[in-house]
Amino acid sequence: MTHPTTTAVAPPVRDPARLAAQYDAFHTARARTPLVARLYAAALGEDYPEEVAASSSCDWPLLGLITMRLRMRPGRLLVDAGCGTGGIGLWLARALDAGCGTGGIGLWLARALAARLIGFDLSPVAVAQATARRDRFLVPAGRAAFRVAELDATGLPDGCAHGVVCVDALSLAADRGGAVCELGRLLAPGARLVLTRALRRSAEPVWEDQARAAGLTLEHVDERPHEPAMWERLYRLWIDHADQIRRELGDVQAERMLAEAHRMLPALPGRRAVLLTLRRPPTVPAPLVVADRMTGPGRPDDDGPATSERTPS
Ligand SMILES: C[S@@+](CC[C@H](N)C(=O)[O-])C[C@H]1O[C@@H](n2cnc3c(N)ncnc32)[C@H](O)[C@@H]1O
Repeated sequence: MTHPTTTAVAPPVRDPARLAAQYDAFHTARARTPLVARLYAAALGEDYPEEVAASSSCDWPLLGLITMRLRMRPGRLLVDAGCGTGGIGLWLARALDAGCGTGGIGLWLARALAARLIGFDLSPVAVAQATARRDRFLVPAGRAAFRVAELDATGLPDGCAHGVVCVDALSLAADRGGAVCELGRLLAPGARLVLTRALRRSAEPVWEDQARAAGLTLEHVDERPHEPAMWERLYRLWIDHADQIRRELGDVQAERMLAEAHRMLPALPGRRAVLLTLRRPPTVPAPLVVADRMTGPGRPDDDGPATSERTPS
């Protein structure tokens, strides 16, 4: 099944340069008007995480699931793959307001997701917008960076990440299996990749095979039963607001959005959406290696695969 792109790319384009240009145009147009965000807010209702302003099916339940499945520790490195304008990664990476809790649980929550972040996207415009949003999330520049890269060629080192998140982007990769391998390559032992996937209810999922080929185990499949209805509400809103979308985003973007809405609507009743959690198997720390980590000169203190980190939770 084609994945809703919500970025008005229809039909799916496999040439990275063309795809990047289309996403650049979409992100540029979207930044000019609050209309698209307003339509997402209307479609998602109370489940809309306004601050995140994602170009995707990201809602509060998804943010909660991602948080629970990643099991990140403060200070660890999170990679947001296909980050768009960066809201999901920045939301996850930000320390919550420490003033909101004075006891142990509150303080733990305030610190729990104080991750470092690298977000990447094919679209240079999205990357620039994500970079500009850092201040709004109170995430210091040293703790969050965004770059242009592709899902199947990230340019990041092996085992650098303690968590990778990928929301509504994998279906846009030319080679999805290759992209899973590449994102899996980034995981430190015991770390997790959480990603959204969708398929026809009648189709046999290939994600277990893709996980195995990437050397990962499929740890959880969380169903997202409300996702198709959310798209249906959003697409109907796009169609109902076609004239306004044309006026505010221009004819080209409007036609792409409307084509996507008309293409996707008939398929939604048979759609199954999930959040997958894939895990790089933990390694058993050898005493010698632990000693090496503790005494080795010039070793980054927490960036690489932590041998003591069988479960980064
Ligand atoms: C539907 S948006 C989701 C963005 C973000 N994850 C969110 O939830 O708001 C998909 C994003 O994936 C990016 N993208 C598409 N194909 C890509 C690829 N091959 N490599 C990296 N990013 C890609 C697009 O530029 C776009 O910003």
